[in-house]
Amino acid sequence: MSVYESTVRPLLFRLDAERAHNLTLAASELGGRSSVVRRVAQRAFTLRDPRLETTLAGIPVANPLGLAAGFDKNARAVRMLGALGFGHLEIGSVSADASDGNPKPRLFRVPQDEAIVVAYGVPNEGAEAVRERLAGPRPVPVGVNLVKTNDPAKPAAGPEVYEDYAASFSVLQDRADYVALNLSCPNSAADRDFFDDLTRIDALLARLAECDPRVPLILKLKPTRDAGVLREIVAIADGHPFVSGFAINLPSGKPDFLDLTVARDSLDRMPGAVGGPPVEAYVNAILGTLKGITGDRYTLIAAGGVMSGEAAYTKLQLGATNVQLYTGLVYHGPALVKRILAELLERMD
Ligand SMILES: Cc1cc2nc3c(=O)[nH]c(=O)nc-3n(C[C@H](O)[C@H](O)[C@H](O)COP(=O)(O)O)c2cc1C
Repeated sequence: MSVYESTVRPLLFRLDAERAHNLTLAASELGGRSSVVRRVAQRAFTLRDPRLETTLAGIPVANPLGLAAGFDKNARAVRMLGALGFGHLEIGSVSADASDGNPKPRLFRVPQDEAIVVAYGVPNEGAEAVRERLAGPRPVPVGVNLVKTNDPAKPAAGPEVYEDYAASFSVLQDRADYVALNLSCPNSAADRDFFDDLTRIDALLARLAECDPRVPLILKLKPTRDAGVLREIVAIADGHPFVSGFAINLPSGKPDFLDLTVARDSLDRMPGAVGGPPVEAYVNAILGTLKGITGDRYTLIAAGGVMSGEAAYTKLQLGATNVQLYTGLVYHGPALVKRILAELLERMD
């Protein structure tokens, strides 16, 4: 058991989940300002081995494991998170304008399944504020995840959606190693289904092409097991050479296919999407289908229930080029990164 699991987690889990998260981020931001703290963290948590080195959309990374979007939406803790051993970090989701997100409470733990239920609705400080924070050197490659501004008064409707993405893209692309487009936040009820009309993905990419894209683009898709839809999306991406890969978001709500052991009615008071092991099998099935369609032409970033080297290895075997985690960090703390990488090396051996 790590110090986090034995000592820190019990204290954090006494607090409301969002409060605990904000406290963790504030401590990370503060710790990250000290080069001594960063060095100590780096020594404790980093595992370097040339066999782990790989690329993400052509960008060299020290290992295939990254921090998923949502943990540090506003790039507050990049320096500290960069010392935790991840091969890359994904910041965001960030939108053109700041947004308060959904009403609280909007973050819940389900310890029985090591899961999180999230209904944030992409609150963030907006593209300009995040641009300021990403001004300095980046400790590891950083992707910035962009989403349409969540404004209940302006639900996704027409071309203004493309303008919203184009605005945040123009502000942030020069501060990122790659940009991910969150095409479907499961918790922005008014916007969630906009890109179900796949021609709109094509229109968005055509608009971004006018912004002179200089970094690789990853499309973070609404999850679907419909191979026909995935094939169509890949065909659209084929028409836009700056698209380098795909990722898969969480499904919205509590669909029947989630691997939950907790009684479902106990989740009634927790609105939102489920992250962690209950989505692992579903995401893995989509990943396998997507790999069958893309072959080796695209980067595939896979997240969903990665809490062990075995889970990360399974995703890599299914065709992921890079793996991300979020919920694992909440349940197992920063030592999980090194543990996963050590287990991956054992598997490789
Ligand atoms: C609390 C929370 C907030 C998240 N926020 C975002 C977000 O803002 N943008 C996004 O693209 N994905 C977001 N995600 C999805 C994660 O990036 C990731 O795809 C998903 O949680 C699966 O990984 P995990 O099982 O390791 O948590 C969020 C997930 C959680 C749990």
